[in-house]
Amino acid sequence: MPHRSLRLGVNIDHVATIRNARGGPHPDPVRAARLAADAGADGITAHLREDRRHITDSDIERLMHDIALPLNFEMAATDEMLGIALKHRPHAACLVPERREERTTEGGLDVARGQAHLRPYVEALGKAGIRVSMFIEADPRQLDASRALGAPVVEIHTGAYCHAALRSAAEGKRELDRIVAAAAHAERIGLECHAGHGLGFDTVAPVAAIASIAELNIGHFLIGEAVFSGLDSAIRRMRALMDKARADSAGARSA
Ligand code: PXP
Repeated sequence: MPHRSLRLGVNIDHVATIRNARGGPHPDPVRAARLAADAGADGITAHLREDRRHITDSDIERLMHDIALPLNFEMAATDEMLGIALKHRPHAACLVPERREERTTEGGLDVARGQAHLRPYVEALGKAGIRVSMFIEADPRQLDASRALGAPVVEIHTGAYCHAALRSAAEGKRELDRIVAAAAHAERIGLECHAGHGLGFDTVAPVAAIASIAELNIGHFLIGEAVFSGLDSAIRRMRALMDKARADSAGARSA
């Protein structure tokens, strides 16, 4: 059954990036999470990286205690991160690849080749009642491998699409078609499908229009846009663009 509504998860990592540039408490990512809730976010996403370059352990603790919205805890498949996830038991955990030298999560997880390493993490998180998602490229092999591991959710990496859309409409369309096909495949094999990375006002609508996608996770653009218009306004505008794209596509299908 295609999802009619589309959730917005606001990633607050880069509020912490700005805070950490000066080493003090301001701006506080937990305050941003509270504001995101008021502006229409359905969840908060935060990535505790091994090097703690943005979100810190104490941010995760405060997000769990002070914020009513469900937390999507992005984590590498390491024993340290598993221990932290099991201690806090967030609503969801998204397994992501992580390399110290990268500026951001540059590609999806290779679930197909990493099954043996990933399986115990998926199982331990699942057993603790944490909804596990695998952050993967729009590739049917990766979707099938995620299904085989027993993860209930996948998040499709939209970075390639966003980069391609900046280069040309034709290249953007090619990458978008891969996301559309991957979302349809996810639905066929019984996986809940999320998407995210690199989305902004100019790129969100075609992804939001895909009926089988249940959630978008968006961060960097919103925090950057907040410099100009404020975080509340940026989130509200993103929410409105997502909702309009979803309503228009539903209308087009029933016409
Ligand atoms: N989803 C995942 C799994 C991510 O790793 C990130 C970036 O941390 C995002 C979504 C959000 O990407 P962006 O900050 O580019 O919107």
